[in-house]
Amino acid sequence: MKNLTVPCLPGHPHVAHVGSTLKIEHVTASDLADEFGTPTYVYSRAAIEAAARSYSEAAQASPVRVALRYAVKANSSLAVLQLLARLGWGFDIVSGGELKRVLAAGGDAGKVVFSGVGKTADEMRLALDAGVECFNVESPGELAALNRVAQAAGKIARVALRVNPDVDAGTHPYISTGLKTNKFGVSPDQAAQLALQTAHLDQVQLIGIACHIGSQITSALPYLDALDKVLDLVEHMERKGAKIEHIDLGGGLAIRYTDETPPTPQEWLAPLLARICARGFGHRTVVIEPGRSIVGNAGVLLTRTLYLKSTPAKHFAVVDAGMNDLIRPALYSAEQVVVPAESRAGNALKYDIVGPVCESADWLARGRALVLEEGDLLAVLSSGAYGMVMASNYNSRGRPAEVMVDGDTATLIRPRETAEQIYASERLLP
Ligand code: LLP
Repeated sequence: MKNLTVPCLPGHPHVAHVGSTLKIEHVTASDLADEFGTPTYVYSRAAIEAAARSYSEAAQASPVRVALRYAVKANSSLAVLQLLARLGWGFDIVSGGELKRVLAAGGDAGKVVFSGVGKTADEMRLALDAGVECFNVESPGELAALNRVAQAAGKIARVALRVNPDVDAGTHPYISTGLKTNKFGVSPDQAAQLALQTAHLDQVQLIGIACHIGSQITSALPYLDALDKVLDLVEHMERKGAKIEHIDLGGGLAIRYTDETPPTPQEWLAPLLARICARGFGHRTVVIEPGRSIVGNAGVLLTRTLYLKSTPAKHFAVVDAGMNDLIRPALYSAEQVVVPAESRAGNALKYDIVGPVCESADWLARGRALVLEEGDLLAVLSSGAYGMVMASNYNSRGRPAEVMVDGDTATLIRPRETAEQIYASERLLP
Protein backbone atom coordinates (compact mmCIF):
# COMPACT_ATOMS: atom_id res chain seq x y z
CA MET A 1 0.00 0.00 0.00
CA LYS A 2 2.81 2.35 0.99
CA ASN A 3 4.57 2.26 -2.36
CA LEU A 4 1.49 2.28 -4.50
CA THR A 5 2.15 3.79 -7.94
CA VAL A 6 -0.44 6.43 -8.83
CA PRO A 7 -0.13 8.20 -12.20
CA CYS A 8 -0.41 11.96 -11.72
CA LEU A 9 -2.85 12.10 -14.65
CA PRO A 10 -5.12 9.17 -15.48
CA GLY A 11 -3.84 7.26 -18.49
CA HIS A 12 -0.30 8.68 -18.26
CA PRO A 13 1.70 6.11 -16.30
CA HIS A 14 5.19 7.52 -16.91
CA VAL A 15 4.84 10.41 -14.45
CA ALA A 16 3.58 8.99 -11.17
CA HIS A 17 3.76 9.17 -7.42
CA VAL A 18 5.26 6.02 -5.94
CA GLY A 19 4.10 6.37 -2.37
CA SER A 20 4.76 10.05 -1.66
CA THR A 21 7.65 10.35 -4.16
CA LEU A 22 7.27 11.71 -7.68
CA LYS A 23 9.01 9.69 -10.39
CA ILE A 24 9.49 10.14 -14.09
CA GLU A 25 9.71 6.55 -15.28
CA HIS A 26 12.08 5.06 -12.65
CA VAL A 27 13.92 8.26 -11.78
CA THR A 28 13.02 10.29 -8.69
CA ALA A 29 12.18 13.91 -9.48
CA SER A 30 14.16 15.27 -6.55
CA ASP A 31 17.28 13.38 -7.72
CA LEU A 32 16.90 15.07 -11.11
CA ALA A 33 16.61 18.48 -9.45
CA ASP A 34 19.69 17.78 -7.32
CA GLU A 35 21.72 16.71 -10.36
CA PHE A 36 20.55 19.22 -12.96
CA GLY A 37 19.17 22.12 -10.91
CA THR A 38 15.88 23.93 -11.46
CA PRO A 39 13.94 24.99 -13.42
CA THR A 40 14.37 21.95 -15.66
CA TYR A 41 12.16 20.34 -18.28
CA VAL A 42 12.12 16.56 -17.94
CA TYR A 43 10.74 14.27 -20.64
CA SER A 44 9.92 10.57 -20.55
CA ARG A 45 11.21 8.75 -23.58
CA ALA A 46 8.73 5.91 -23.02
CA ALA A 47 5.84 8.38 -22.92
CA ILE A 48 6.89 10.03 -26.20
CA GLU A 49 7.34 6.67 -27.88
CA ALA A 50 4.02 5.33 -26.55
CA ALA A 51 2.18 8.39 -27.86
CA ALA A 52 3.87 8.07 -31.25
CA ARG A 53 3.03 4.37 -31.32
CA SER A 54 -0.63 5.02 -30.65
CA TYR A 55 -0.68 7.05 -33.87
CA SER A 56 1.33 4.56 -35.90
CA GLU A 57 -0.88 1.68 -34.74
CA ALA A 58 -3.99 3.64 -35.72
CA ALA A 59 -2.35 4.33 -39.09
CA GLN A 60 -1.40 0.70 -39.63
CA ALA A 61 -4.92 -0.47 -38.78
CA SER A 62 -6.40 1.87 -41.37
CA PRO A 63 -7.27 0.93 -44.95
CA VAL A 64 -6.01 4.36 -46.03
CA ARG A 65 -2.31 5.23 -46.26
CA VAL A 66 -1.57 7.64 -43.40
CA ALA A 67 1.64 9.71 -43.39
CA LEU A 68 2.78 10.73 -39.89
CA ARG A 69 4.37 14.17 -39.68
CA TYR A 70 5.25 15.37 -36.15
CA ALA A 71 4.64 19.12 -35.69
CA VAL A 72 8.11 20.29 -34.69
CA LYS A 73 6.82 23.50 -33.12
CA ALA A 74 5.43 21.58 -30.14
CA ASN A 75 8.89 20.54 -28.94
CA SER A 76 11.86 20.94 -31.25
CA SER A 77 14.67 19.66 -29.05
CA LEU A 78 17.06 17.59 -31.14
CA ALA A 79 16.77 14.52 -28.92
CA VAL A 80 12.98 14.58 -29.26
CA LEU A 81 13.19 14.90 -33.03
CA GLN A 82 15.77 12.12 -33.09
CA LEU A 83 13.41 9.73 -31.26
CA LEU A 84 10.65 10.41 -33.78
CA ALA A 85 12.97 10.19 -36.78
CA ARG A 86 14.13 6.80 -35.54
CA LEU A 87 10.51 5.67 -35.37
CA GLY A 88 10.19 6.57 -39.05
CA TRP A 89 8.16 9.72 -38.56
CA GLY A 90 8.33 12.69 -40.89
CA PHE A 91 7.94 16.28 -39.73
CA ASP A 92 5.73 19.32 -40.13
CA ILE A 93 7.84 22.48 -40.01
CA VAL A 94 7.08 26.19 -40.05
CA SER A 95 10.52 27.76 -40.51
CA GLY A 96 13.95 27.27 -41.96
CA GLY A 97 15.22 26.92 -38.41
CA GLU A 98 12.92 23.97 -37.79
CA LEU A 99 14.08 22.37 -41.04
CA LYS A 100 17.71 22.68 -39.93
CA ARG A 101 16.82 21.08 -36.60
CA VAL A 102 15.08 18.17 -38.34
CA LEU A 103 18.13 17.56 -40.52
CA ALA A 104 20.51 17.91 -37.56
CA ALA A 105 18.48 15.29 -35.69
CA GLY A 106 18.65 12.80 -38.54
CA GLY A 107 15.19 13.46 -40.03
CA ASP A 108 14.40 12.74 -43.67
CA ALA A 109 13.73 15.91 -45.71
CA GLY A 110 11.69 13.78 -48.09
CA LYS A 111 9.16 13.35 -45.28
CA VAL A 112 8.85 17.03 -44.40
CA VAL A 113 5.83 19.23 -45.03
CA PHE A 114 6.50 22.96 -44.80
CA SER A 115 3.52 24.81 -43.26
CA GLY A 116 3.17 28.42 -42.21
CA VAL A 117 1.64 31.62 -43.44
CA GLY A 118 4.84 33.65 -43.89
CA LYS A 119 7.63 31.65 -45.51
CA THR A 120 10.48 33.84 -46.79
CA ALA A 121 12.24 33.31 -50.12
CA ASP A 122 15.37 32.18 -48.24
CA GLU A 123 13.37 29.57 -46.35
CA MET A 124 11.75 28.35 -49.56
CA ARG A 125 15.16 28.02 -51.16
CA LEU A 126 16.54 26.10 -48.19
CA ALA A 127 13.57 23.72 -48.27
CA LEU A 128 13.81 23.21 -52.03
CA ASP A 129 17.52 22.43 -51.76
CA ALA A 130 16.86 19.98 -48.93
CA GLY A 131 14.10 18.33 -51.00
CA VAL A 132 11.06 18.64 -48.75
CA GLU A 133 8.03 16.65 -49.83
CA CYS A 134 5.51 19.49 -49.88
CA PHE A 135 4.92 23.19 -49.27
CA ASN A 136 1.55 23.96 -47.69
CA VAL A 137 0.78 27.25 -49.46
CA GLU A 138 -1.50 29.78 -47.80
CA SER A 139 -1.86 32.75 -50.18
CA PRO A 140 -1.68 33.77 -53.87
CA GLY A 141 1.44 35.84 -53.14
CA GLU A 142 3.17 32.88 -51.54
CA LEU A 143 2.35 30.66 -54.53
CA ALA A 144 3.85 33.22 -56.92
CA ALA A 145 6.94 33.66 -54.72
CA LEU A 146 7.46 29.91 -54.50
CA ASN A 147 7.21 29.59 -58.27
CA ARG A 148 9.89 32.31 -58.66
CA VAL A 149 12.22 30.78 -56.09
CA ALA A 150 11.81 27.31 -57.60
CA GLN A 151 12.53 28.70 -61.05
CA ALA A 152 15.76 30.32 -59.86
CA ALA A 153 16.74 27.06 -58.16
CA GLY A 154 15.83 24.94 -61.19
CA LYS A 155 13.44 22.84 -59.09
CA ILE A 156 9.79 21.88 -59.06
CA ALA A 157 8.02 22.69 -55.79
CA ARG A 158 5.34 20.22 -54.77
CA VAL A 159 2.44 22.15 -53.29
CA ALA A 160 -0.65 21.59 -51.17
CA LEU A 161 -3.10 24.46 -50.83
CA ARG A 162 -4.13 25.18 -47.26
CA VAL A 163 -7.83 25.79 -47.14
CA ASN A 164 -9.59 27.60 -44.32
CA PRO A 165 -12.87 25.71 -43.93
CA ASP A 166 -14.48 28.24 -41.55
CA VAL A 167 -15.33 25.79 -38.79
CA ASP A 168 -15.28 26.44 -35.06
CA ALA A 169 -12.83 24.07 -33.40
CA GLY A 170 -14.17 25.03 -29.98
CA THR A 171 -10.77 25.87 -28.55
CA HIS A 172 -9.01 28.96 -27.12
CA PRO A 173 -9.28 31.84 -29.64
CA TYR A 174 -5.48 32.21 -29.82
CA ILE A 175 -5.07 28.62 -31.03
CA SER A 176 -8.11 28.38 -33.29
CA THR A 177 -6.99 28.59 -36.92
CA GLY A 178 -9.90 27.39 -39.06
CA LEU A 179 -12.30 30.33 -38.79
CA LYS A 180 -12.61 32.68 -41.73
CA THR A 181 -11.51 35.54 -39.48
CA ASN A 182 -8.18 33.75 -38.80
CA LYS A 183 -5.10 34.60 -40.87
CA PHE A 184 -4.59 31.01 -41.97
CA GLY A 185 -5.27 29.40 -45.33
CA VAL A 186 -7.47 30.58 -48.18
CA SER A 187 -11.22 30.20 -48.65
CA PRO A 188 -12.45 27.19 -50.62
CA ASP A 189 -13.30 29.49 -53.56
CA GLN A 190 -9.86 31.05 -53.51
CA ALA A 191 -8.27 27.61 -53.27
CA ALA A 192 -10.20 26.50 -56.36
CA GLN A 193 -8.89 29.56 -58.24
CA LEU A 194 -5.33 28.97 -57.05
CA ALA A 195 -5.56 25.37 -58.20
CA LEU A 196 -6.40 26.59 -61.70
CA GLN A 197 -3.47 29.02 -61.55
CA THR A 198 -0.98 26.30 -60.65
CA ALA A 199 -1.65 24.76 -64.05
CA HIS A 200 -0.03 27.86 -65.56
CA LEU A 201 2.97 27.95 -63.23
CA ASP A 202 5.86 25.89 -64.55
CA GLN A 203 7.76 25.39 -61.31
CA VAL A 204 4.98 24.30 -58.96
CA GLN A 205 3.06 21.06 -58.99
CA LEU A 206 -0.23 20.82 -57.11
CA ILE A 207 -0.36 17.55 -55.20
CA GLY A 208 -2.52 18.12 -52.15
CA ILE A 209 -5.01 19.99 -50.04
CA ALA A 210 -4.15 20.89 -46.46
CA CYS A 211 -6.23 22.02 -43.53
CA HIS A 212 -5.46 22.67 -39.85
CA ILE A 213 -8.30 24.02 -37.75
CA GLY A 214 -6.60 24.62 -34.42
CA SER A 215 -5.04 23.03 -31.39
CA GLN A 216 -6.17 21.36 -28.13
CA ILE A 217 -9.33 20.16 -29.90
CA THR A 218 -11.24 17.71 -27.74
CA SER A 219 -13.65 16.19 -30.30
CA ALA A 220 -13.50 14.72 -33.81
CA LEU A 221 -16.68 16.57 -34.82
CA PRO A 222 -15.15 19.86 -36.03
CA TYR A 223 -12.65 17.82 -38.05
CA LEU A 224 -15.53 16.01 -39.77
CA ASP A 225 -17.12 19.36 -40.65
CA ALA A 226 -13.81 20.59 -42.04
CA LEU A 227 -13.17 17.33 -43.87
CA ASP A 228 -16.49 17.50 -45.73
CA LYS A 229 -15.60 20.96 -46.99
CA VAL A 230 -12.12 19.80 -47.96
CA LEU A 231 -13.49 16.79 -49.85
CA ASP A 232 -16.05 18.99 -51.65
CA LEU A 233 -13.12 21.09 -52.78
CA VAL A 234 -11.06 18.10 -53.89
CA GLU A 235 -14.03 16.87 -55.96
CA HIS A 236 -14.41 20.29 -57.53
CA MET A 237 -10.70 20.62 -58.33
CA GLU A 238 -10.48 17.17 -59.82
CA ARG A 239 -13.47 17.88 -62.06
CA LYS A 240 -11.39 20.79 -63.35
CA GLY A 241 -8.45 18.49 -64.07
CA ALA A 242 -6.29 18.72 -60.93
CA LYS A 243 -4.84 15.56 -59.44
CA ILE A 244 -4.90 15.58 -55.64
CA GLU A 245 -2.64 12.89 -54.18
CA HIS A 246 -2.87 13.76 -50.54
CA ILE A 247 -5.20 15.29 -48.00
CA ASP A 248 -3.48 16.87 -44.99
CA LEU A 249 -5.75 17.08 -41.94
CA GLY A 250 -3.24 18.97 -39.79
CA GLY A 251 -2.79 18.30 -36.10
CA GLY A 252 -4.60 19.62 -33.08
CA LEU A 253 -5.75 16.60 -31.08
CA ALA A 254 -6.07 17.64 -27.42
CA ILE A 255 -4.38 16.18 -24.37
CA ARG A 256 -5.63 15.90 -20.82
CA TYR A 257 -4.35 18.88 -18.82
CA THR A 258 -6.90 18.70 -16.00
CA ASP A 259 -10.18 16.89 -16.69
CA GLU A 260 -10.37 16.83 -20.50
CA THR A 261 -11.15 13.46 -22.06
CA PRO A 262 -10.01 13.81 -25.67
CA PRO A 263 -10.36 10.94 -28.15
CA THR A 264 -7.37 8.65 -28.59
CA PRO A 265 -5.56 8.90 -31.96
CA GLN A 266 -7.48 5.80 -33.04
CA GLU A 267 -10.83 7.27 -31.95
CA TRP A 268 -9.96 10.55 -33.65
CA LEU A 269 -8.77 9.08 -36.93
CA ALA A 270 -11.29 6.27 -37.40
CA PRO A 271 -14.34 8.45 -38.23
CA LEU A 272 -12.24 10.73 -40.45
CA LEU A 273 -10.79 7.87 -42.45
CA ALA A 274 -14.21 6.22 -42.67
CA ARG A 275 -15.64 9.44 -44.13
CA ILE A 276 -12.75 9.66 -46.60
CA CYS A 277 -13.39 6.08 -47.75
CA ALA A 278 -17.16 6.55 -47.88
CA ARG A 279 -16.74 9.52 -50.17
CA GLY A 280 -14.48 7.57 -52.50
CA PHE A 281 -11.10 9.06 -51.56
CA GLY A 282 -9.68 6.01 -49.80
CA HIS A 283 -6.85 5.67 -52.31
CA ARG A 284 -5.35 9.06 -51.38
CA THR A 285 -2.67 9.54 -48.75
CA VAL A 286 -3.86 11.20 -45.56
CA VAL A 287 -1.23 13.36 -43.86
CA ILE A 288 -1.54 14.19 -40.15
CA GLU A 289 0.58 16.64 -38.16
CA PRO A 290 0.20 15.95 -34.43
CA GLY A 291 2.41 17.87 -32.02
CA ARG A 292 0.98 18.38 -28.54
CA SER A 293 -0.48 14.86 -28.30
CA ILE A 294 2.96 13.32 -28.89
CA VAL A 295 4.98 15.25 -26.33
CA GLY A 296 2.59 17.20 -24.08
CA ASN A 297 2.06 14.69 -21.33
CA ALA A 298 5.56 13.26 -21.69
CA GLY A 299 7.09 16.32 -20.03
CA VAL A 300 7.12 18.10 -16.68
CA LEU A 301 8.72 21.34 -15.58
CA LEU A 302 10.55 20.95 -12.28
CA THR A 303 10.70 24.13 -10.23
CA ARG A 304 11.75 24.86 -6.67
CA THR A 305 9.81 26.94 -4.17
CA LEU A 306 11.90 29.93 -3.17
CA TYR A 307 9.57 31.72 -0.78
CA LEU A 308 6.09 31.36 0.64
CA LYS A 309 4.34 34.59 1.36
CA SER A 310 0.88 35.49 2.48
CA THR A 311 -0.73 38.85 1.85
CA PRO A 312 -4.09 39.91 3.30
CA ALA A 313 -5.65 38.61 0.06
CA LYS A 314 -3.68 35.54 -0.97
CA HIS A 315 -1.06 32.91 -0.36
CA PHE A 316 1.77 32.96 -2.86
CA ALA A 317 4.39 30.34 -3.58
CA VAL A 318 7.23 32.11 -5.36
CA VAL A 319 9.06 29.51 -7.44
CA ASP A 320 12.18 29.66 -9.59
CA ALA A 321 10.36 29.11 -12.92
CA GLY A 322 8.60 32.05 -14.48
CA MET A 323 6.50 33.02 -17.45
CA ASN A 324 9.68 33.20 -19.50
CA ASP A 325 10.16 29.45 -18.89
CA LEU A 326 6.50 28.39 -19.34
CA ILE A 327 4.28 31.03 -20.88
CA ARG A 328 1.09 29.01 -21.43
CA PRO A 329 -0.64 30.09 -18.18
CA ALA A 330 0.16 33.79 -18.78
CA LEU A 331 -0.73 33.70 -22.48
CA TYR A 332 -3.78 31.44 -22.62
CA SER A 333 -4.81 31.25 -18.94
CA ALA A 334 -3.86 27.60 -19.38
CA GLU A 335 -4.45 25.29 -16.43
CA GLN A 336 -1.72 22.71 -15.82
CA VAL A 337 -1.68 20.46 -12.78
CA VAL A 338 1.08 21.15 -10.24
CA VAL A 339 2.21 18.34 -7.94
CA PRO A 340 4.81 18.14 -5.19
CA ALA A 341 7.92 16.02 -5.77
CA GLU A 342 7.45 14.70 -2.23
CA SER A 343 3.93 14.93 -0.83
CA ARG A 344 3.60 16.14 2.75
CA ALA A 345 0.93 15.60 5.33
CA GLY A 346 -0.63 18.73 6.79
CA ASN A 347 -3.14 21.44 6.13
CA ALA A 348 -3.25 22.57 2.54
CA LEU A 349 -3.41 26.26 1.66
CA LYS A 350 -4.61 27.61 -1.66
CA TYR A 351 -1.54 29.03 -3.37
CA ASP A 352 -0.98 31.11 -6.44
CA ILE A 353 2.23 29.69 -7.85
CA VAL A 354 4.17 32.62 -9.27
CA GLY A 355 7.60 33.17 -10.78
CA PRO A 356 10.38 35.73 -10.28
CA VAL A 357 9.56 37.79 -13.39
CA CYS A 358 8.44 41.37 -12.83
CA GLU A 359 4.92 41.11 -14.17
CA SER A 360 1.64 40.16 -12.54
CA ALA A 361 1.04 37.86 -15.52
CA ASP A 362 3.92 35.78 -14.21
CA TRP A 363 1.95 32.91 -12.75
CA LEU A 364 2.11 29.18 -13.37
CA ALA A 365 -1.03 28.19 -11.48
CA ARG A 366 -3.66 29.86 -9.32
CA GLY A 367 -5.55 28.81 -6.23
CA ARG A 368 -3.97 25.36 -5.93
CA ALA A 369 -4.42 23.49 -2.64
CA LEU A 370 -0.95 22.35 -1.58
CA VAL A 371 0.96 21.60 1.61
CA LEU A 372 4.22 23.46 1.05
CA GLU A 373 7.41 24.52 2.76
CA GLU A 374 10.07 26.82 1.36
CA GLY A 375 12.56 24.78 -0.66
CA ASP A 376 9.96 22.23 -1.79
CA LEU A 377 10.26 20.93 -5.32
CA LEU A 378 7.19 21.08 -7.57
CA ALA A 379 6.41 19.64 -10.99
CA VAL A 380 4.19 21.41 -13.49
CA LEU A 381 2.64 18.55 -15.44
CA SER A 382 1.82 18.42 -19.17
CA SER A 383 4.71 20.74 -20.01
CA GLY A 384 6.27 18.71 -22.82
CA ALA A 385 4.52 20.65 -25.59
CA TYR A 386 4.76 24.41 -26.12
CA GLY A 387 6.92 24.70 -23.01
CA MET A 388 10.63 24.99 -23.79
CA VAL A 389 9.92 26.03 -27.40
CA MET A 390 8.12 29.15 -26.18
CA ALA A 391 10.64 30.00 -23.45
CA SER A 392 12.34 33.37 -23.70
CA ASN A 393 15.15 35.30 -22.08
CA TYR A 394 12.89 37.97 -20.58
CA ASN A 395 14.54 39.48 -17.50
CA SER A 396 17.82 38.05 -18.90
CA ARG A 397 16.89 34.70 -17.52
CA GLY A 398 18.65 31.74 -19.10
CA ARG A 399 16.28 29.13 -20.44
CA PRO A 400 15.86 25.90 -18.42
CA ALA A 401 17.87 22.73 -18.84
CA GLU A 402 16.22 19.76 -20.55
CA VAL A 403 16.61 16.14 -19.50
CA MET A 404 15.38 12.93 -21.14
CA VAL A 405 14.60 10.03 -18.84
CA ASP A 406 14.75 6.51 -20.21
CA GLY A 407 13.96 3.84 -17.63
CA ASP A 408 16.36 4.52 -14.77
CA THR A 409 18.71 6.72 -16.80
CA ALA A 410 18.60 10.50 -17.17
CA THR A 411 20.42 12.28 -19.99
CA LEU A 412 21.00 16.02 -20.15
CA ILE A 413 19.81 16.92 -23.65
CA ARG A 414 20.27 20.68 -23.29
CA PRO A 415 22.24 22.42 -20.56
CA ARG A 416 20.79 25.39 -18.73
CA GLU A 417 21.48 28.59 -20.63
CA THR A 418 23.84 31.03 -18.93
CA ALA A 419 23.62 34.83 -18.86
CA GLU A 420 26.90 34.98 -20.78
CA GLN A 421 25.41 32.82 -23.53
CA ILE A 422 22.42 35.13 -23.74
CA TYR A 423 24.50 38.19 -24.54
CA ALA A 424 27.47 36.48 -26.22
CA SER A 425 26.69 37.83 -29.68
CA GLU A 426 25.84 41.37 -28.57
CA ARG A 427 28.21 44.26 -29.24
CA LEU A 428 29.11 47.35 -27.24
CA LEU A 429 29.23 50.64 -29.13
CA PRO A 430 32.70 51.74 -30.26
N1 LLP B 1 0.02 21.75 -38.02
C1 LLP B 1 -0.08 23.10 -38.08
C2 LLP B 1 -0.16 23.74 -39.39
C3 LLP B 1 -0.12 23.86 -36.90
O1 LLP B 1 -0.24 25.17 -36.97
C4 LLP B 1 -0.04 23.20 -35.64
C5 LLP B 1 -0.06 23.95 -34.39
C6 LLP B 1 0.08 21.79 -35.63
C7 LLP B 1 0.11 21.11 -36.84
C8 LLP B 1 0.20 21.00 -34.37
O2 LLP B 1 -0.92 21.12 -33.56
P1 LLP B 1 -1.00 20.28 -32.20
O3 LLP B 1 -1.17 18.82 -32.58
O4 LLP B 1 0.24 20.51 -31.44
O5 LLP B 1 -2.19 20.83 -31.52
N2 LLP B 1 1.24 27.41 -28.31
C9 LLP B 1 -0.11 26.88 -28.25
C10 LLP B 1 -0.40 25.93 -29.39
C11 LLP B 1 -0.16 26.51 -30.78
C12 LLP B 1 -0.42 25.54 -31.89
C13 LLP B 1 -0.02 26.10 -33.20
N3 LLP B 1 -0.17 25.23 -34.34
C14 LLP B 1 -0.35 26.25 -26.88
O6 LLP B 1 0.57 26.24 -26.06
O7 LLP B 1 -1.44 25.78 -26.60
